[in-house]
Amino acid sequence: MKDKAKLKVVPEHIAIIMDGNGRWAKKKGLPRIAGHKEGLNAVRAVVKAARKYGVKYLTLYSFSTENWKRPEDEVRFLFHLMDERLRKEGQQLHKNNVKVLFIGKRDGLPVKLVKTMGWVERQTCKNTGLNLIFAINYGSRQEITDAVKRIISSGEKDITEETIEKNLYTAGIPAPDLIIRTSGEKRLSNFLLWQAAYTELYFTPIFWPDFKEDEFLKALFDYQRRKRRFGGLSG
Ligand code: IPE
Ligand code: IPE
Ligand code: MG
Repeated sequence: MKDKAKLKVVPEHIAIIMDGNGRWAKKKGLPRIAGHKEGLNAVRAVVKAARKYGVKYLTLYSFSTENWKRPEDEVRFLFHLMDERLRKEGQQLHKNNVKVLFIGKRDGLPVKLVKTMGWVERQTCKNTGLNLIFAINYGSRQEITDAVKRIISSGEKDITEETIEKNLYTAGIPAPDLIIRTSGEKRLSNFLLWQAAYTELYFTPIFWPDFKEDEFLKALFDYQRRKRRFGGLSG
């Protein structure tokens, strides 16, 4: 295993499209929900690894605005799982100095979950360690549309990139340096479209429940080899 000492560049912000829970379960002959449950262990492992390697922001795509198209049972189970885990692990995250944030639309989510989200956010709001951002009921097109609506209703006439950025759910959060997508799919699925303008992309065939510290580290080493130019010339 490549060791931490050889890791010279760590992305400040990593965003992950945690995909493949269902296929992981199917491969094992289990129901899809077993994949979602196991996926939470990967979340725990990756949060721990992000703290260990000094990542400052970790954004996890947990439920998209399009995921409402899934069977009602699965959707309900996913929200139940999120609520239960946040309640159980909120305190531990707080002890670990993690600041928890949420992006996405809270309207439409179960009231109980929204309350838990508010509780974890308040509990951890003064923490200075890892910023852990869950994208729940998140869709980038909706985020941009909402930003435009807000700008119009504020009466702002001088619209710049900064004006738009300030009105996104991610206002104040730097753009992701690296987006990881598991499960072999190579698309963004409505995730951070504006913010990803210059983000490095990393795709792995590993299903999300199998994505633990060693896989995370592989992505970090891969990122380290990238040359980011932002449209300019590399020195
Ligand atoms: C990701 O795994 C979890 C969510 C989108 C909530 P999937 O549930 O999409 O798993 P696959 O893609 O069907 O394997
Ligand atoms: C993207 O995965 C959303 C999350 C990981 C929460 P999906 O499984 O919903 O994406 P598509 O439908 O394959 O593009
Ligand atoms: Mg999927």
